[in-house]
Amino acid sequence: MPTLLVTGANRGIGLELARQYAADGWEVVATAREPDKADELNDLDCKVETLDVADQTSVDAFLERLGDRKIDLFINNAGVGGGLDLTRETWLHTLEVNSVAPALLARALKPNVAASDRKKMVVITSRMGSIADNDGGGFWVYRSSKAAVNAAWKSIALDFKGDGIAVAMLHPGWVQTDMGGPNAQIDTATSVAGMRKVIDGLSLDNTGEFRAYDGAAIDW
Ligand SMILES: NC(=O)c1ccc[n+]([C@@H]2O[C@H](COP(=O)([O-])OP(=O)(O)OC[C@H]3O[C@@H](n4cnc5c(N)ncnc54)[C@H](OP(=O)(O)O)[C@@H]3O)[C@@H](O)[C@H]2O)c1
Repeated sequence: MPTLLVTGANRGIGLELARQYAADGWEVVATAREPDKADELNDLDCKVETLDVADQTSVDAFLERLGDRKIDLFINNAGVGGGLDLTRETWLHTLEVNSVAPALLARALKPNVAASDRKKMVVITSRMGSIADNDGGGFWVYRSSKAAVNAAWKSIALDFKGDGIAVAMLHPGWVQTDMGGPNAQIDTATSVAGMRKVIDGLSLDNTGEFRAYDGAAIDW
């Protein structure tokens, strides 16, 4: 059975990713900052691991526990909305969670993914990271954090291609979660079902693309 590693899996899109892949028979390693409080995740057939992606001690301990386990699909889902609060602390924390952590995790997990059969890495980014698509302004913090992760992961796609690893940057849609709010356009089941199809079609031939959950290409 293939193995999925998904971060931020205690709620929202991450929880639904864990749910759908586990239901499909995958072995799922699902991370949460506080597994004791992750009731819905603990009810799934997953191995739940503690991970705060912004805390290097937590990251190091998690990687140590993971060891050389093969990971067919790494999905970096954990993220924060950044808020509208333009303080240095908020902005830097958002960059840490949304941009720096996904890139450093991808680098650290490269051997685990390269040793697997499917060899795929996905970051859940956002259309709001598209500079070409920005005709509304606002959201400096969130937009810049997702543009930064796209830039880093584009290099990761190019740099890891020789290792046989295929990489995608996926916009999940505007999704009904704590982050997306109740008025969002789609539910988590629709978003994740769409992204799973895109991930199924991910290969070295289309590595490094920025796509939405329905497969549509998004301009950088
Ligand atoms: N919802 C949307 O409309 C939408 C649109 C575009 C992109 N996205 C992206 O989709 C991804 C998932 O979003 P969502 O809507 O499911 O959001 P959510 O419901 O707010 O869930 C966010 C998840 O990230 C985790 N997380 C936050 N900071 C973390 C940290 N330092 N270390 C580890 N985990 C951390 C949270 O854990 P805690 O419970 O411990 O806080 C939670 O599990 C994010 O990357 C987001 O930017 C969402």
